[in-house]
Amino acid sequence: MKILITAGPTREYIDAVRYLSNASTGRMGYALAEAARAAGHQVTLVHGPTQQEPPQAYKTIAVTSALEMFQAVGDEFPSCDALIACAAVSDYRPRERLSGKLKREAARELTLELVQNPDIVQEMAARRSPRQVLIGFALEAESAEDHARDKLQRKRLDAIVLNAPATIGSDETTITIFRADGRREGPLTEPKSAAARRIVALAEVLLKHLRSLPPE
Ligand code: C5P
Repeated sequence: MKILITAGPTREYIDAVRYLSNASTGRMGYALAEAARAAGHQVTLVHGPTQQEPPQAYKTIAVTSALEMFQAVGDEFPSCDALIACAAVSDYRPRERLSGKLKREAARELTLELVQNPDIVQEMAARRSPRQVLIGFALEAESAEDHARDKLQRKRLDAIVLNAPATIGSDETTITIFRADGRREGPLTEPKSAAARRIVALAEVLLKHLRSLPPE
């Protein structure tokens, strides 16, 4: 199958050199792309700025901002069978990007006006065909399960992978998978490579199920 994966953080530039971002390293997303490739799938990885080695074995699209990621994912989504949204997309961006580098002397106080970025996976869920699988991630610190289940429903996903902030940058992860059909797997602590294989296998199972349904 054709799998589209998003990975890494996004950067939302304030001026020519400063930006808003987060601590995502992209490791889980790259592990997913490698697991999908190794399983024989056709992979496209849309990734934000990361230190990960650029892979040769599958298609990658490098983006910087959430809007660029939205555009790239929107272009690729119609032809994919499954989207696994692992990117830590910035929820907000500065309303405007200042040209040049903002000078310290320019103001004693500064208010940054932020506007919301599109929710990429939710937008794709709204555009999906009945034969496309969507899997999201939820990084939650508190009331984690409730928030993960809420996101699963609100974003209309087939499954959501819950993990904890402590997994950022680590080789291991602890995941719990919640499926839209009510099934649940985990929590499981394992290397990200093993978690990635598990999630790719889940995408295969979900797609097989969708394909077994009668046409609408
Ligand atoms: O709402 P929250 O950011 O916690 O949701 C996480 C899930 O939604 C992840 O799958 C992430 O890749 C996706 N997401 C997105 N676009 C955004 C925010 C999150 O695709 N703007």
